[in-house]
Amino acid sequence: MGIISSSIARKVAMALSGLFLVFFLAQHFVINLTSVIAPDVFNSWSHFMGTNGLVQYILQPVLIFGVVYHFVMGIVLELKNRNARAVNYKSYKGSANASWASRNMIISGLVILAFLGLHFYDFWIPEIVHKYIESHPEDPTRYLVETVHKFESPVRVGLYVLAFVLLIFHLWHGFSSAFQSIGFNNSYSKALKGFTKLFAVLIPLGFIFIAIYHHFNQIPH
Ligand code: HEM
Repeated sequence: MGIISSSIARKVAMALSGLFLVFFLAQHFVINLTSVIAPDVFNSWSHFMGTNGLVQYILQPVLIFGVVYHFVMGIVLELKNRNARAVNYKSYKGSANASWASRNMIISGLVILAFLGLHFYDFWIPEIVHKYIESHPEDPTRYLVETVHKFESPVRVGLYVLAFVLLIFHLWHGFSSAFQSIGFNNSYSKALKGFTKLFAVLIPLGFIFIAIYHHFNQIPH
């Protein structure tokens, strides 16, 4: 496979893993929004996701692979682009008119990666320990209280909100450019671009609302 085709293949794979994570983000937002608007639904959906074999043993490993693949490939592509730029320094016309978001995908990406590290420590690892290591008897009503209590600390809320702001920049460029990378270019592209920008702003703002709402609506311990 020639250099060109392999770099195109890498870009397409990066775009497809990005679109997969956008789909995850949409479902993750809907589930977590219920923790504010319909707490009983949040508990039953979380219990279903937490105990369903397909979700736990198929979808979750695929998701974690998608997250790791997207970040590793993102760093590899960034390093390759930097090397390419260094080589053609003289002829590189610079990206004067490229947006901050598109020039700094690696920065917003690394901040989101750092967030996921904290987020896995906050939610995913305790879930794994609860279910598979300490094997507590199942309590389908525990999820809301556990989630709300995580947002008691203003420091954690501050870090989450900062990461969600960088998520806006990452999605602002990444979501629409992913469609370009896979060659989706037709009469719907303009409307699709509008949708990707709306999604890039509204979903992270929605996550910011959920975090701040739970911080100011704590459930007594
Ligand atoms: C206020 C916002 C958020 C809340 C309340 C929240 C809540 C949760 C909870 C409760 C879990 C554990 C699910 C389980 O394993 O049982 C989880 C897992 C996870 N979250 Fe979030 N999350 C939020 C934002 C985000 C964002 C913005 C991202 C991505 C950038 C994200 C990515 C993930 C991933 C990858 C997992 C592990 C896979 C999974 O178990 O579903 N989360 N989150």
